[in-house]
Amino acid sequence: MQARFVPALDRGGIAADVCAANMMGGGERMDMSDRPKANAKRLHVITWGCQMNVYDSGRMADVLAPLGYAPVDAPDDADMVILNTCHIRDRAAEKVFSELGRLRVMKQVREAAGNKMVLAVAGCVAQAEGAEIIARAPYVDIVLGPQTYHKLPEMVARAARAGGAVIDTDFPAEDKFDHLPDAAAAQGMTAFLTIQEGCDKFCSFCVVPYTRGAESSRPAAAVLAEARRLVAQGTREITLLGQNVNAWHGTGPDGAPASLGQLVRWLAEIPGLWRIRYTTSHPRDMDAALIAAHAEVPELMPYLHLPVQSGSDRILAAMNRKHTAAEYLALVDRLRAARPDLALSSDFIVGHPGETEADFQATMELVRKVRFAQAFSFKYSPRPGTPAAGAPMQVPEAEKDRRLQELQAELRLQQAEFNQSLEGQVVKVLFTNPGRRAGQIGGRTPWLQPVHAIGPESLIGQEVLVRIVTGHPNSLTGTLIEEVAPA
Ligand code: SAH
Ligand code: SF4
Ligand code: F3S
Repeated sequence: MQARFVPALDRGGIAADVCAANMMGGGERMDMSDRPKANAKRLHVITWGCQMNVYDSGRMADVLAPLGYAPVDAPDDADMVILNTCHIRDRAAEKVFSELGRLRVMKQVREAAGNKMVLAVAGCVAQAEGAEIIARAPYVDIVLGPQTYHKLPEMVARAARAGGAVIDTDFPAEDKFDHLPDAAAAQGMTAFLTIQEGCDKFCSFCVVPYTRGAESSRPAAAVLAEARRLVAQGTREITLLGQNVNAWHGTGPDGAPASLGQLVRWLAEIPGLWRIRYTTSHPRDMDAALIAAHAEVPELMPYLHLPVQSGSDRILAAMNRKHTAAEYLALVDRLRAARPDLALSSDFIVGHPGETEADFQATMELVRKVRFAQAFSFKYSPRPGTPAAGAPMQVPEAEKDRRLQELQAELRLQQAEFNQSLEGQVVKVLFTNPGRRAGQIGGRTPWLQPVHAIGPESLIGQEVLVRIVTGHPNSLTGTLIEEVAPA
């Protein structure tokens, strides 16, 4: 499987090779398995958007495996191509249509040779614009929303019979997680595990509550079973996923209610699971149990992606974020008191309707107070059907550009400062892959920075102590030190 953390191509991000903490940018092609068997059907999945889409793409491959589909890493000559799409900003949706145009040609070439190419559009654009996809791209065979991918085998069969497209963007009563096969392809050393879906927060700018539906949590037992299976397959680091992951709630074996802090403690008991992360969190749902877990559970990594969006109370209210700048800062203080080396990351939107220069400067002030190790920042993008899209006082594009540049310059500085602060320190690195240069291996610090060091590939899969030599803007280089942490 490809690297779990992917380049932030479309984040308006800090730099092209900054690793996305919560989102993917543009069309990642999933190389999800070994080469397919000679008689296997070739499945190619292109994934945009957040890590939840990455996870969903893996599950779509899992449900199609019993039908003989095996993932390949290019669309050429594929029997089926799935575009797993993201609707979060407008350019994201446009990319889907341009990719569809390209695939149409490939489909025609295959059909001229007497072969089929099933073309499916999944994910949040499919959910929001299913009808438009069929109207603009009538050659698409299947349109399915994020809640119906367990029905893919049935849809593929219907598409083979049907004259037109098969569409399923319902929010079915049954839970798709109950319909996923027990057998799943190994995810590798680092894996995603979706534990929560949907959002009830309705921020003024955001499509997620409409595309992913209401908040729901997977039962603790199902999460723990999946985590144990991943660990048995070799996974050493799990990132728990949810659009509001820290809103997760469930019950323990004794029936007592549990929140994410408790779930993290249960996961930490799984032998062989070394590292636990979670994303994305909402400041309102950071409860005392989760903060305590940061203080007390060594497997919980000292990194937290906690989007604030703005530092202006006026704009936070307009955004319906349900917290003030002071509340966010107080929360950061509590978290740092619990875990002094906690690295913080955030998302920001500049140019939300009504944002004045003074509001923007309040965001800059909050950033200067917190000091982020990493961050993602975006120009506000009006999304059809969301309250902010129709709001008065839209900010001109040129002004959004200027504010974004000013904010990103400061965030870049803070990220470089964090990376440089690690110079000379000995840190535990989980090595996961060969490096780009010969003789190098690559991994991640507990704070999520990519690290490269000269070392044998036999260390891949191990946590090893590394002395950081140089903090680059987006990564670190280091040297292995003699002592190797026990596996
Ligand atoms: N659930 C997460 C965010 C999910 S969307 C949270 O509440 O923080 C990921 C990020 O995309 C958001 O944090 C926000 O910064 C950005 N985003 C969402 N809608 C946007 C829009 N209309 N324009 C620009 N950025 C947007
Ligand atoms: Fe979107 Fe807000 Fe929900 Fe995050 S909390 S997914 S930004 S509506
Ligand atoms: Fe995009 Fe849907 Fe994720 S809109 S960010 S793929 S929840």
